[in-house]
Amino acid sequence: MFNVLKGTHDVILDEARQYSYVEELLTKVASLYNYKEFRTPIIESSDLFLRSVGEGSDIVRKEMYTFYDKGDRLITLRPEMTAGTIRSMVNNKLFANQDFPIKAFYVGPNFRYERPQQGRYRQFNQFGIECCGVNSPYRDAEVISLGYNALKMLGFSNLKLKINYLGDEESRSKYRDALRDYFGNKIDEMCDDCKERFNKNVLRILDCKVPHDIEIVKDAPRIRDYLSENSKKYFSSILEFLDRIGVEYELDDNLVRGLDYYTGVVFEYHYVSNLGKNYGALGGGGHYSNLINEIGGPNLEGVGLAFGIERLVSVMQDDNLFDDLKSNLDVYIMPLGEKVLESANSLANFLRLNGFSTDICLENKNMSQMFKKAERRNASFAVIIGEDELNNDCIILKNLHTKEQIQVNNEDLLDKLDELFDEEEHHHHEEN
Ligand code: HAM
Repeated sequence: MFNVLKGTHDVILDEARQYSYVEELLTKVASLYNYKEFRTPIIESSDLFLRSVGEGSDIVRKEMYTFYDKGDRLITLRPEMTAGTIRSMVNNKLFANQDFPIKAFYVGPNFRYERPQQGRYRQFNQFGIECCGVNSPYRDAEVISLGYNALKMLGFSNLKLKINYLGDEESRSKYRDALRDYFGNKIDEMCDDCKERFNKNVLRILDCKVPHDIEIVKDAPRIRDYLSENSKKYFSSILEFLDRIGVEYELDDNLVRGLDYYTGVVFEYHYVSNLGKNYGALGGGGHYSNLINEIGGPNLEGVGLAFGIERLVSVMQDDNLFDDLKSNLDVYIMPLGEKVLESANSLANFLRLNGFSTDICLENKNMSQMFKKAERRNASFAVIIGEDELNNDCIILKNLHTKEQIQVNNEDLLDKLDELFDEEEHHHHEEN
């Protein structure tokens, strides 16, 4: 017996439809904002993530799937997609034609060697966007509102959008000093992670989830008191515009995010499902001023976000937001006896070529068993073929919703199906 590896999961059948539904909706929203799709490799050189996600981050320190390939190259399975997306913009010279911003969206698997728990996998899927070559608070607000509006369109109602502003390098380095001063005589009584963060990335202490440490963090200096005048002005422009378009948010001084590349606004979307389960942030992102340059591009800034598809789907399952997502089949063919098998199978082929999803029963079953199979497959119509029908070039067509049954000549079948499906759709529209 083989099982999925720890922290990985199969997505199959109806659940796979839910994944596709979510990914398609997010993709549509991205198009509304004029984002174009980027598909970049899952493997990248490890250096790319050291440079971008950062040596101080948990991801680079302990979560990357890194190995030497047969050519002795140090390779990492991407833990996130921002770095690869920007690398591709640089390599494909998209910055050269000076037509900004470059707007990318992406969907795909990512890998982080984390301790698996609710909402946390070692292979998980992200949808995200990157808007590169930006210099306006309206762009930051556009990205934040894209995420917010997408979640609304998926059916989320009590969203919690947390926002903070990390500031330019100068403000941040002053702030880091202040934090080191504050935590200096307290770090001995804090958790081991915090002790490490104190040396590597003191900002991340603000993120600590240990209750005793949270108490200490409460009175720590706040980043907002260290922002330059320009940063303050830029941040309030973003917030004012979000107010203006009705995006609700709350300010969170302790939101620092787990990747090192953020320099300006940072944000996360949270949601507690009706079952009260918390899967962690549904998504997050922020503004980066140096990342494009770090990866070999020009000195331009960018802003982006990513959602975790697993988390979105889990919450939507809990809150029944997938209600009307049923997989269905147009036609289920029921051959009565060996003799009709050949023509029944060619009819299946013919219907499929004409755009009707079709399946056929090839097991030796009686009529009522075949109707059960049709029902389980959510079929709209049954096509019944017996020897009489075979000899008369016709079939029996049964509407499985209304239970009406008619005999149709083979040559009229396509027209009849078109007509009946139009009627069904019409009914459906009237009901809604
Ligand atoms: P991130 O916060 O590391 O940001 O990941 C974004 C989202 O991916 C999280 O909010 C979460 O929903 C999902 N996620 C992360 N780790 C896991 C996991 N182990 N299992 C399941 N879901 C997970 C980034 O990755 C940035 N690249 C976002 C960004 C884009 N910033 C700017 N542009």
